[in-house]
Amino acid sequence: MPTLLIENLPGGTVSVAKDSTLLKALQASGHDWLHACGGKGRCTTCRLEVIEGLAHLTPPTDAELRYQAAGRLLAHERLTCQTRLLEGTVRGRVPRATQLPHVQYSS
Ligand code: FES
Repeated sequence: MPTLLIENLPGGTVSVAKDSTLLKALQASGHDWLHACGGKGRCTTCRLEVIEGLAHLTPPTDAELRYQAAGRLLAHERLTCQTRLLEGTVRGRVPRATQLPHVQYSS
């Protein structure tokens, strides 16, 4: 199964089913992940900084393209509520700005 590996999140290796967004897969694995708008593509708090494997992800949605155009989402960042993993492994990190205060990140 495709795998999401979050480097700075303890236990951050998550299997992602084909019909699941990254956010849902993270939540199903018991991870607490910021998602202020409830996964509707109306904020950027659920974003993931992708280090490797961008090509394995579904193309950016209209919401992501709007945020990219507005400079609120960088080219190597994806909204976990909008994105699915097609194959292989994606490595990423939780951006410092969206880290939750009660979670112990490795950096
Ligand atoms: S939770 Fe708001 S855009 Fe993903």
